Parts: sequence; C-alpha cells; structure tokens
Amino acid sequence: MDKRPIGIFDSGIGGTSIWGEIQELLPYEDCIYLADSKNAPYGEKSEERILELSIKNTEYLLAKGCKLIVVACNTATTNAIDYLREHYKVHFIGIEPAIKPAAINSKSKIVGVLATKGTLSSSLFHSTSKNHAAGITVLEQRGTGLVEMIENGNLQSDELYTLLERYISPMLDKGMDYLVLGCTHYPYLIPILKKMLPENVTIIDSGQAVARQTKSVLEKFNLLNNSNVQGAHQFLINKNEKVLVNILPTEKLKLSVCFKDF
Ligand code: DGL
Repeated sequence: MDKRPIGIFDSGIGGTSIWGEIQELLPYEDCIYLADSKNAPYGEKSEERILELSIKNTEYLLAKGCKLIVVACNTATTNAIDYLREHYKVHFIGIEPAIKPAAINSKSKIVGVLATKGTLSSSLFHSTSKNHAAGITVLEQRGTGLVEMIENGNLQSDELYTLLERYISPMLDKGMDYLVLGCTHYPYLIPILKKMLPENVTIIDSGQAVARQTKSVLEKFNLLNNSNVQGAHQFLINKNEKVLVNILPTEKLKLSVCFKDF
C-alpha cells in the first residue's frame, strides 16, 4: 500500500490524454500532472535542452513526493528516459510511438507515423522502428505546428484541418493503412482525423498501453494505493491554465488546476 501520488509530465497539455487512461485504469491513485506549456514545443528543441527540461520536471515531481513518474511525452521519452532511469531511483514509465502493433496488423505493410521532429530524429525511435517493423515501410511525418495549435486551445479550426491534411494526404497516397500517433498531443486530433481518413485506416496511440504498464509496475513493486476512495488529481501548469481547464473533465473528478512558475 503506497498512498503517494503518481507523477506525470509533458511539454504541455497533451499528456493529459495519457493521464485520462491512467485515471480510468487506476481510479484510486492520486496524480500530480506537470504541464510545461511555457517550454512547448519540446519537439523543436535540441536533445540537450529536452534532457534539461526532463530533469527539471522530474526533480519537481520528486520534490512533491511522487512514487513513480510517467513521462507522458514521446519527445522526452525518446530523448531523455535512459538518462533519467540511470540517474534517479524512482521507476519511470515512458511512451513511444506504437509501431509494433501497427506493423503486426498492417495489411498494406505501409505504416504512417506522425510525431515531432525530436521523436523522429532520436536514436531510440530508430532502434524501435528497426526492431519492430522489419518488412514494413514506415512513413515518417513531422507534425510541425500541431502542438502549438493544440496548446493554444485550437482543436477544431479550418487552419488546423488544412495543416493536418497536408501531413496525412501524402501518406494516404502511398497506401498507409495504419496511422501511429507518436505525440501525446495528437489524440486530441482524433475527431478531425476521423473525418479525414478512409475507413480502412486504423489510428493507433499508446495511451492504454502506458496505463497498463503503469499498473503492472505499481503491482510488481508493491506501490499500489489500495484504498477504495477516488483519487485526487492536481494539475500544475506554467502558462494558459484556461486551455487546460477546457479539456479536463472538471465536474466528474476530484481535480484542481493551478498556475505555477516552474
Ligand atoms: N506531447 C509531446 C510528445 O508526445 C509533444 C512534444 C512537443 O512539445 O513538441 O511528443
């Protein structure tokens, strides 16, 4: 039995897509979510800067007494998780583009990955891609500009549709039948993507897998909070807290959003 909270961080509000899956699977756990929106997008930064920011977020969450840290950001995971695991005692759960299930199930053998520049250029992404996608054509597409729009609360506009279409169309023309969302902000684009993609194209993201992995690590190391009281969720953000409030299910859960200059 361990009542300490789970710590979760992202470059901004995108990782709330992961938090949502964790909260559903582990309803009795308390969570502290750190949205480093002030420094978004991470995907356009150097590997050194992404590491620096990941260390800052980790130390902030550890100072709050977190028992495990979920790096709810593909860009931070692919660039920093090896370092974090080496330098801190706490368990880390990371997220990477879910190429494996896409590669296993693709009929056309053509899989699209939409992710940030930082993720697509990382060596961890390339080794995963090489290990799990033998015999598959992996189309890599940078989602430049998408994170910024989502961080500004723009989830619906024509401008967003047009930008997304520019990224998706070439992959469709090449025969993609699986689209892997390699950034935790992108699940917020699923309603638009569904309008854009033909029925034979399946969208995959890693949110549920991350939640399952979080549960299994908590179980394995005796870190579960075994109470039967709904968990409390604290969201700390260093910019634009209104945008965050708008995407959270504020009526349903014990949840607080607070501006903090971390
Ligand atoms: N949510 C982050 C990810 O999964 C976005 C990265 C960014 O800030 O560019 O990669």
